[in-house]
Amino acid sequence: MTILDGKKISNDIKDEITEVVAQMKANGEKTPHLAAVIVGEDGASLTYVGSKVRACARVGFESTLVQLPETITQQQLLAKIDELNNDPEIDGFIVQLPLPKHIDTQKVLLAVDPKKDVDGFHPENFGKLALDMETFIPATPYGIMELLRRYDINTSGKHTVVIGRSHIVGRPISILMSRKGQPGDSTVTLTHSRTNDLASFTKNADIVISALGVPNFLTADMVKQGAVIIDVGITRVPDNAVTKGYVITGDVDYQAVSEKASFITPVPGGVGPMTIAMLLQNTLLARQRSVH
Ligand code: GUN
Repeated sequence: MTILDGKKISNDIKDEITEVVAQMKANGEKTPHLAAVIVGEDGASLTYVGSKVRACARVGFESTLVQLPETITQQQLLAKIDELNNDPEIDGFIVQLPLPKHIDTQKVLLAVDPKKDVDGFHPENFGKLALDMETFIPATPYGIMELLRRYDINTSGKHTVVIGRSHIVGRPISILMSRKGQPGDSTVTLTHSRTNDLASFTKNADIVISALGVPNFLTADMVKQGAVIIDVGITRVPDNAVTKGYVITGDVDYQAVSEKASFITPVPGGVGPMTIAMLLQNTLLARQRSVH
């Protein structure tokens, strides 16, 4: 069994980006600049956005954190997005999800200039992804593809079972794994909360990608010997034995499943750090594309 070390691979990618940025600076070119918009005080979201901003400094990017109160109106948020769309200093930006209930997420995502949409959530970019056109691939699925690629895991003709149909992970990774190429060329089954006898699918899977958000959902009896297991779950489970008061728990019963798996991602240290590295990669792409 091989552990897919997302922490190490994400550091490799960050080192590669750092070199490119150093070269840009040496050439007197503009430095990539990412902005992150966060609305409200959700603890997990604040942590994720903080990590994204810190990662920018690590590779030599500029970054701007736009923190807005929970009470902001939709109109005020759309005005802020318009400002970022038109700011030549900002190469790419993200709006951290979820947004408060009184804000229409679809309207917000539609307002982002597709050229600056480094999350790849705008319908124009999502459509391009489905049609194999140049786009921004959403960071989490992009990170999974990059892990599979860098560990040289053969996905061609394999049966990939995705658990979860979210717009951020399940839906896009199901499209990417079925596309032509390596990684890709998989036969994909997309399962979700309404799937009958979900285990009957996972038991026959060569690759399982779980993006459900239910701790320890995938148990050893649900996977076949030698399967590749990608765990996208990052649920905070209360635990008074640790100072933070919670532990980050994946969708996979790691101890038992790792005994059957050929490759497996740990939580934390698997897909999570890859997401941040690929957001940086997309920001670099946004900068490079705006020059050409
Ligand atoms: N919330 C959970 N994952 C993501 C992500 O990748 N991007 C944004 N903007 N919000 C998220």
